Amino acid sequence: MPGPGEVGRGVRRETAPAKINLFLGVGPRRPDGYHELLTVFESLPEPHDDVTVTITPSDGGWVFRAEAAPPPSSSVQALPRDLENLAGRAAERFAAALGEPAGKPGAAVDIRVTKGIPVAAGMGGGSSDAAAVLRALQAHFGSPLDHERLLRVAAELGSDVPFFLEGGRAVARGRGHELRPLPRGSGLPLVLGLPRFALATPDVYHEFDRLGGPAGGGQAIWVRREEHLAGLTEALAAGDLPAVAGFLGNDLERAAVSLCPQVREILGALRRAGCLVARVSGSGPAVFGLCLGKDEAARIARVAARLLPPGLRGSVSFLPVVSGVGPRPGSDN
Ligand code: C5P
Repeated sequence: MPGPGEVGRGVRRETAPAKINLFLGVGPRRPDGYHELLTVFESLPEPHDDVTVTITPSDGGWVFRAEAAPPPSSSVQALPRDLENLAGRAAERFAAALGEPAGKPGAAVDIRVTKGIPVAAGMGGGSSDAAAVLRALQAHFGSPLDHERLLRVAAELGSDVPFFLEGGRAVARGRGHELRPLPRGSGLPLVLGLPRFALATPDVYHEFDRLGGPAGGGQAIWVRREEHLAGLTEALAAGDLPAVAGFLGNDLERAAVSLCPQVREILGALRRAGCLVARVSGSGPAVFGLCLGKDEAARIARVAARLLPPGLRGSVSFLPVVSGVGPRPGSDN
């Protein structure tokens, strides 16, 4: 491994997991355009993206290239350019944070992302890819950025990016980047509903505002949400799935359904198939249902597919999964 200040050649492969939001409380729009959040992130081993970062010493300063490809049997319709940009921007910001973006020698940083996570689905794929790039570069260069600095670089890239540096289970506040890790506990048996259509996050937040913003205002709502959060973390710690089900919620759900009414059908199929509860993840349109066990989740995934209205059957896949981060290779060669 090259020391700080040196650039050696290396190829690093990182697994970029998806996430869901077990709870997402949203406040009014702030003067900076963002909304105040209280959320609980939970990472998933599947679906995931594979991120390969190749670093080659270069005498010509720093050069960044990023490319994304859908997997052969893809549920991803189109890859937006900004996905490639976010992974590429992660490398640029990392180099800038090293304090020598224009310095010589530099490095050519080549990023290839193979998508497994549906794009613009509310599962954090682009943010996870950006975090994977930061992890790869930190590992390659011998951890030149301290944890605080790395978190700041991640937060500049996007609200969800800091969470994906570690993954697991965490409470987030502020814009979504002030993190408090929670004990990982046991994973949750889930069925994901993965639509082949997309929703742009800013559009969903705009719709949330248009529909009147948070229900109730002022500080009282945050007091209630903190109580809700305490209930959820207690139920998670106890592994009490029916109690967890009672605390899952998402303030963006109404806005996501308003923009994309098919989401209601997908939630309905999961509920009727036997999930304890089904919710939208993040800004949607991906959804998840909580089940009583792993085998039950596999059964519910099959039943939910049959319960979809015929017009939606080709556009949604149901995936049983137990939450938690899978093995994260982060290999070096
Ligand atoms: O931070 P990120 O770039 O992922 O956010 C994407 C968009 O989502 C923002 O431009 C904003 O419209 C919306 N957003 C928000 N409040 C947050 C996080 C995101 O309004 N806390």
